[in-house]
Amino acid sequence: MAFIARKKSAIGLDIGSSSVKLLELEPTKNGSFRLLHFGVESLPPEAIVDGAVMNSNAVVDAIRELVRRMRVRTREVVASVSGHSVIIKRINLPVMTREELEESIQWEAEQYIPFDVKDVHIDVQILDRVGDEAGQMEVLLVAARKELVHEYVSLIHEAGLVPAVIDVDAFAVQNAFELNYDLPSESVALVNIGANTTNICVLHNGISAFTRDITLGGRQVTDEIQRVLNVSFEEAEAMKVGRDDRDASAVVPEEVERVIRTASESIASEVNRSLEFYHTTATGEGFSHIFLSGGGALTPGLAAALLRQAGNRVEIVDPFRRIEIDERTFNPRFLQDTAPQATVAVGLALRRPGDQ
Ligand SMILES: Nc1ncnc2c1ncn2[C@@H]1O[C@H](COP(=O)(O)OP(=O)(O)OP(=O)(O)O)[C@@H](O)[C@H]1O
Ligand SMILES: [Mg+2]
Repeated sequence: MAFIARKKSAIGLDIGSSSVKLLELEPTKNGSFRLLHFGVESLPPEAIVDGAVMNSNAVVDAIRELVRRMRVRTREVVASVSGHSVIIKRINLPVMTREELEESIQWEAEQYIPFDVKDVHIDVQILDRVGDEAGQMEVLLVAARKELVHEYVSLIHEAGLVPAVIDVDAFAVQNAFELNYDLPSESVALVNIGANTTNICVLHNGISAFTRDITLGGRQVTDEIQRVLNVSFEEAEAMKVGRDDRDASAVVPEEVERVIRTASESIASEVNRSLEFYHTTATGEGFSHIFLSGGGALTPGLAAALLRQAGNRVEIVDPFRRIEIDERTFNPRFLQDTAPQATVAVGLALRRPGDQ
């Protein structure tokens, strides 16, 4: 999928609502990849709200800081959008060529997207050319609001970089997963839990059978700690990730734990509800395995809650599993702590500008 495409190699830039992740991969001789650059720069809590950029200066500064700190030389960027402004649907259409499809999709798409077609960038992928006897084929329709895509494009320009591809978070997660894991014969659910948005994608034979973004993530846990304990965002965040080295008497561990446990249960149940929705609407394909990624996947008790509620195996994705890493350049501890958060950036960095 690509709304804007150019050739050449590029860096993956994941502009998340809690932090910007910049990652560059280098192809190796044996067909694998080596990690060239990876860095994370936090954003102030209200910089991006509901996918909309509220404080573009903060985002541009974060990107510039990453480029400067890591001495990144590549200028071309692959970034991604997600949330309510992105629609991904499998639709059935009469069998036609790619050219015919590109011509007619503007008209066809109208009934599937809740926005005016003039306001969206549309991309299509033919999934099943054979179709059934009725001469139908299955097509993956992806639409993203132009406003949002243009917002990301101008942020990248402002940071002195060149936007090469604007992808979708859920597809980046899928690409990162496919590089690092062998596709099982049964379907798998990929659940990327960020700070504000959770991208859910069910893969069947390597093709997305169901994709949905829900407004939900680690931020919810932080907000709840903040509210219940009446502390600042930074304090609540520190209590959650367990890096609070202030005076121990100032912390109420049992209460924090209880709040985290309750919030984890509620996130797990919303994710489970979406997965159950897939079960009831999709063509009957079940799955046995849920792969979690995104920083929110590290919320204590969340994976266990999901295992209990969904009854599937739950595993946290390691996006660096098959990527060569020089331990003299990258601190293994940093990589281990941030690995789930790097998933989208890995998927974006895998994209070659110009490919579809
Ligand atoms: N060790 C940890 N334990 C608990 N939560 C964590 C941990 N590390 C990161 N998080 C949480 O993960 C979230 C950030 O994850 P991620 O970087 O994937 O989100 P994002 O891409 O910035 O946001 P989004 O995609 O929703 O816009 C934050 O809410 C953060 O508090
Ligand atoms: Mg994210």
